[in-house]
Amino acid sequence: MTRQPLVGGNWKMHLDASGAVDLIGGISAGMPELAAGVDVMVFPPFPYLGLSAEAALGSGILLGGQDVSGELEGACTGQVSAPMLLDSGCVVALVGHSERRHGLGETDFVVAAKVRTALAAGLRVVLCLGETLEQREAGATVEVVLGQLSGSLEGVSVEDLDRVDLAYEPVWAIGTGLTAGPDEAQEVHATLRSAVNARYDDRSASRIRILYGGSVKPSNAADLMACEDIDGALVGGASLEAESFLDIARAAARRE
Ligand code: 13P
Repeated sequence: MTRQPLVGGNWKMHLDASGAVDLIGGISAGMPELAAGVDVMVFPPFPYLGLSAEAALGSGILLGGQDVSGELEGACTGQVSAPMLLDSGCVVALVGHSERRHGLGETDFVVAAKVRTALAAGLRVVLCLGETLEQREAGATVEVVLGQLSGSLEGVSVEDLDRVDLAYEPVWAIGTGLTAGPDEAQEVHATLRSAVNARYDDRSASRIRILYGGSVKPSNAADLMACEDIDGALVGGASLEAESFLDIARAAARRE
């Protein structure tokens, strides 16, 4: 099965309102040249979703939330629900990012509730996984990411899995300038795909897109995308500038 590549820009807690609109404008300008050869998603901060949606109208850029509540509605101060994301023009939510797992103590149990709720409401999900430096040095990478995969997909049906993509983001490579080499990343991606096959089925394993994230830049994107099981990138720092993000999207679109 040929998988449509996907590149996501996770803006984290950066930019301001006019910066968000300008960035969408810059990315939009490069969209026709990509000729629909790659899915392009951006994940702005919550307050800028509405104006980003307006700026992205008709461009083909897909909009996503950086997180989503595990509850559909209710007394959840500070949280944002899946229906609110849909209402704001989002089609996807990022779930389980390491800055939430490790920075805010989100467990697989919490992540799984978010995944199920987002899918039930009709969103797509990009589910993030990845090991810390200590875990990698202890030789526990595979055990950690497979544990996260299994725990985070608890209660997700094979039908709903059709709207899930994965992002392997080694924590030690995020924002550090360090990147897993293409071979290192490919090995983990292949392991994740086999695990999806074992837990679900062959069709799901061949369909699911597995993005790599962690210091992806125009200079390393092509080598990463050339790997068989790397279907795109989740980009932080380099997504804050339209040209560098577009360069990464171009590398993904060229992926054979
Ligand atoms: P950097 O590209 O800045 O390393 O961030 C990666 C990331 O966390 C994307 O979600």
